[in-house]
Amino acid sequence: MQNYKMSFQEIVELERQFLLPTYSRYPLAISRGKGVFVYDVEGRRYLDFVGGLGVNALGYAHPRIVKVIREQAARVIHTSNLYCHEYQGRLAQKLCALSGLHRVFFSNSGTEAIEGAIKLARAAAQGGEAGKCGLVALEGSFHGRTFGALSLTGQAKYRAKFEPLLPGVNFIGRNDVEALHKAMSDSVCAIVLEPIQGEGGIRECSPEFLRQAREAADRHQALLIFDEIQCGLGRTGSMFAFQQAGVVPDVVVVAKPIAAGLPLGAFIAKESLAAAMSAGQHGTTFGGGPLACRVALEYLAVLEEEGLLDNVRQVGAYLNQELNTLVAKFAAATEARGRGFIQALELEIPARPLVEEAMAEGVLFNSTQETVLRFLPPFLLQEKHVDRGMRLLRKLLRNARKK
Ligand SMILES: Cc1ncc(COP(=O)(O)O)c(C=O)c1O
Repeated sequence: MQNYKMSFQEIVELERQFLLPTYSRYPLAISRGKGVFVYDVEGRRYLDFVGGLGVNALGYAHPRIVKVIREQAARVIHTSNLYCHEYQGRLAQKLCALSGLHRVFFSNSGTEAIEGAIKLARAAAQGGEAGKCGLVALEGSFHGRTFGALSLTGQAKYRAKFEPLLPGVNFIGRNDVEALHKAMSDSVCAIVLEPIQGEGGIRECSPEFLRQAREAADRHQALLIFDEIQCGLGRTGSMFAFQQAGVVPDVVVVAKPIAAGLPLGAFIAKESLAAAMSAGQHGTTFGGGPLACRVALEYLAVLEEEGLLDNVRQVGAYLNQELNTLVAKFAAATEARGRGFIQALELEIPARPLVEEAMAEGVLFNSTQETVLRFLPPFLLQEKHVDRGMRLLRKLLRNARKK
């Protein structure tokens, strides 16, 4: 087995020379993790409120995940979708039971799952032959980087340079019911939205807006597609965010934590859509392989057996309370948003310097939308970890006031 021991400087230099410069990385090279902590290549420890951007819900090196990966890797990693294996159907059955929906397609990432969901909407509308190919999406949304998903992403900074994108996408304001009804017509094949916008800064759709979206989709025989790639699979304290609003979509899209860090995404659709696509009309080489599916089954089993959704609800409520205390105390902190382990602190100052200062003190936070601190911690996070993070944030906000 080859060994790649390198210093931080060597790692950075190699990346600088050979990678396309698409990422603005922090000065940190992670070498391993355990529970809610990661360790850099020099052995320094960091408390993690980022969770691999919502992927590492079970933290790092969870013993059950390590065991199942080892065992399955020694059996079979990949089969291709020409053949069946023991885990794809079983995982699909589990996702259907959890969501109340009925048919699953597995992809390798969130953006690909969104692509599949758009294709399903087009196929269900007979490929837009009767002109039914329009899409309604939300301003401030984020659905991914491939062309279809990017076409639904309502943020100019991601779209610039890549236009023209998919035609016929109409963007409306989040929670703007009037605009929703105005945008809808029989030529719309789907409404696509995140019940909680993640990258957009943890901004929730109101239950009333989701209900109105359901009604508008039904009235115009369009699909209601929820992107729960970031907010789904336990992060709000429910398996799906839509379950808290009581509005059921026709399709829900998941990815991020589903296979505990292995690449896997999925869209889950209602039964009446099963006939919309036939063999050969959609597919993927890697999606739904035996290793990823078996790990995903383990992820879902661990969530249940370790009562992690209870923890997300309880510690999430504590985190929210503590963030609100910061808002009450510091002028630079203006609003706490979100629930469970998908939360944000809106600032009046740029968030990135705070993230860098926190990193230097051994805590990982994430910033989005310039002035938002975003928290997507592993579901194992405890109140004592929240206390450590909030102590540091108090210090940083106090110092920010003095600058
Ligand atoms: C809500 C949402 N949709 C889609 C995506 C894209 O997922 P991926 O990066 O796996 O393609 C993301 C990623 O952050 C997301 O948060």
